[in-house]
Formats: sequence, C-alpha cells, structure tokens
Amino acid sequence: YSLKKYNTFGIEAKARQFVAVHTPTELKTVLQENENETKFILGGGSNMLLTKDIDALVIHIDLKGKKIIKEDDDFVWVEGMAGENWHEFVLWTIDQNFGGLENMSLIPGNVGTTPVQNIGAYGTEIKDTFVSCEAMHIATQQMKTFTKDECRFGYRESIFKQEAKGQYIITSVVFKLTKRNHKINISYGDITKELAKQNVITPTLKDVSNAVIAIRKSKLPDPKELGNSGSFFKNPIISKTDFEKAQALHPEIPHYVISETEVKVPAGWLIEQAGFKGKRFGDAGIHKNQALVLVNYGNATGQEILAVSKDIQATVLKEFGIAIEAEVNVI
Ligand code: EPU
Repeated sequence: YSLKKYNTFGIEAKARQFVAVHTPTELKTVLQENENETKFILGGGSNMLLTKDIDALVIHIDLKGKKIIKEDDDFVWVEGMAGENWHEFVLWTIDQNFGGLENMSLIPGNVGTTPVQNIGAYGTEIKDTFVSCEAMHIATQQMKTFTKDECRFGYRESIFKQEAKGQYIITSVVFKLTKRNHKINISYGDITKELAKQNVITPTLKDVSNAVIAIRKSKLPDPKELGNSGSFFKNPIISKTDFEKAQALHPEIPHYVISETEVKVPAGWLIEQAGFKGKRFGDAGIHKNQALVLVNYGNATGQEILAVSKDIQATVLKEFGIAIEAEVNVI
C-alpha cells in the first residue's frame, strides 16, 4: 500500500497493511483486533521522513469534526477531532472571530498532531491556547485526558515525544480562544512588515492570519507543489559558553537570549552560511527561500534526503561547533 500521498514529503514508501479509522469506536476495534500486530500511527504525515517501507499495520487517524463545547462572555472552548486539517480548523475559528490561533495559519498537518511537537509560528505556540486533549492508550484502548500541565510542553516538545511516545493516539484537542479583547500578537518582525505593506493599522484576527499566510507563502514551499516537511531541524538552544565561542569566529551570528545560560540560534542562518541554501543533490534539496526546509523535487528517496540532512549537520558542526537536531521524525 503506497504511502506517497500520506506524507507531505511525497516519499514513495509502502505499508504492509493500511487502515483508515473515522471514529474512536472504529479505532478501538482496529486496535483490539490487531493486538499482536506491529502498529504504526499516521496522522497528517506532515512531520515525518520515511526512509524505508513500513513493515506494520499503518493506522491512519481520520477522525473528523469540530465544535464549540462551552463558552462564556469572554472565551470559547473549541474542540477539533484529530483528523481535521489544521489550517481549515484555524480558518473556522477566525471566521467566527475567535482569537488565539491566527498566528499559526497555514501550518501543514492535522489537529491531532499539533500537541505532539507543540507546533508554533510567529510568536505563538499551541500551548498558549491549549486546554487538554483526549487520547486512546494503544495497549488497553482506555481513553485518557491530558491536561496542559501533563503535556509538559516545551519548544517543539511534549510528553508525546518523551515518556508517552508510541503509547497513545490523540483523538481530539480542546483550545480556549478569545471572543473579545483579542490578544493580537504582531511582535514578530515579519508580521509587522507585512501589515505595513498592506497599510493595516489596527489588525483584526483575519488581517493577522492573512499576513501570516502571505509570509509563509513567500518563504515556505507548498507541499502540494514541492514535497517538504516544514522546518527539518530545530533551532538549536546552546550554552552561553558555546555561543560565545561561535560568536568569536562569526561576530554577525543572529541569536535570541533564552535565559542567563542559554542562547537560541536560527538553524536556517547556520545552514545558509554553510552554503547549502538552494542547493540540489539529485531530487533532494534545500529550499531557496528558507534553508531550514529540505525539499523533494519529485522522486527523492527518504534515504537521499536523510543523507543531505546528515551532510548539513556535519558541515554546520564543523564550521560553527553547533550541533543541530532534526525536528522531523525520521522513520
Ligand atoms: N535565516 C537565514 N536564512 C534562512 C532562514 C533563516 O539567515 O534561510 C535566519 C534569519 O536571520 C531570520 C532567522 O533565521 O531572521 C529566523 O528565520 P524565520 O523567521 O524564517 O524562522 P525560523 O527560525 O527559520 C521558525 C520555525 C518555523 C516558523 C518560523 C516563524 C523552528 C524549527 N521553525 O523558523 O516553523 O514558521 O520560526 O515563527 O522553530 C516548522 O516548524 O515547520 C516551521 C516552519
């Protein structure tokens, strides 16, 4: 069973068996009937690089639905089922003038995978509006609610990448959004510039969303046109000491101070300086407008993209003494 259209990198890899589930009950049945099978859970396929065929039963989470579950004068609690397309979900909230997700417009993937890596963009992360998520324990099929604290969110991090890894399937997520007094966040330089370009003085949720869409379209390739998984690497957070070493050699290195002892460096800059931006190796390459994004020009294999990523890591380490880590899940 070909997984090519189920991963945004557009990699040709095969699943031994494949099943799509549309309700939590269906999911439970599939898990019960395949207790002794090796299982592989597939959501939106927007954050993974397949480097081989999957010798397992691939369960595609296709649970649909979104609704308001509670509201008061100021806030609304909205629930999205795991298989809802993230961007469509965001647009649905903006259409009703619910605030909080607008900065995360146009991020590829589905609602159910957003908590796994605490997705974020342009000054906002999922954790800022996340209330809880429901998840099915794979081994027992029991449902469990994970509160925000239990998720232990960090930069592109959560419990679902740590202790709970491979044990749960997120089935729905609840967000608490504003109905009025929206906290418009245009602190990110690119947004300010984009709004000025459009002559917007007092931006609405829709204006912010449109600005984010315009920025993303100018920098990030559309997976429908060019296979990719967004940022392939995380922005490294390094010690002040390591940073000062790199800065002594490269005084112009951009950075954000995280704490007294830690500094975050944009990996895109490091990769660009290392000469990789826009390069192509067969059908695998580095995007011309954003060096953090690896792309598949058509028929690259996962192994080929992985090899390019390793080359980048080794070169950046040699030139800057900084190790960069994949953000994408390499399978
Ligand atoms: N930069 C370069 N060259 C490049 C790319 C970036 O020099 O080719 C430097 C620039 O100095 C720029 C800085 O890096 O000012 C930051 O770039 P950008 O604003 O494009 O953001 P990013 O750090 O590269 C992160 C997220 C993106 C998110 C943007 C905007 C990670 C791993 N990536 O990228 O998330 O959209 O910020 O908030 O944190 C994703 O995770 O898939 C993703 C696209």
